[in-house]
Amino acid sequence: MKEFLIKTTVKVCTVDELSSFDRELVDAARTATANSYAVYSRFNVGAAVRLADGTIVCGTNQENAAYPSGLCAERTTLFWANSQYPTMPVEAIAIAARTEQGELDRPIPPCGACRQVILETEKRFDKAMRIILYGAKECYIIEDGIKALLPLSFDAGFLE
Ligand code: THU
Repeated sequence: MKEFLIKTTVKVCTVDELSSFDRELVDAARTATANSYAVYSRFNVGAAVRLADGTIVCGTNQENAAYPSGLCAERTTLFWANSQYPTMPVEAIAIAARTEQGELDRPIPPCGACRQVILETEKRFDKAMRIILYGAKECYIIEDGIKALLPLSFDAGFLE
């Protein structure tokens, strides 16, 4: 039987070691957590994307009493950004989370559905996204886009 290896490179650093460019986006995501509507989970997530013209767009998770009707911060942000700036490529996304105890020490990774939406956005603009996951003690940077977090992914190519 043949096999193949899927390799993912994740860079790890402290928030102070981030470049000023990444730090700005991470801080926008951290600030955005204050606007999260997470009355059920009390898990406040913020996301920030940087568009090709430098514009930063933020969003948060939005929950609902009918639980599945809610939406994660990443998708809220990307859908809003893509609605407002439909021709502007998304270059990077930062994600941060906080509970009632404060910011999490370790980064939270995007859920599977959000990974799929990040993939669609990358394909739409033909541009891999820089992904920066914030944690108070360590941050993860994925430099070469969502394929690192969503290998063997399904995309429009299979529909042709
Ligand atoms: N959540 C996000 O917004 N992003 C993620 O990557 C993981 C989970 C939200 C969904 C829900 O409102 C809460 O966090 C708990 O799952």
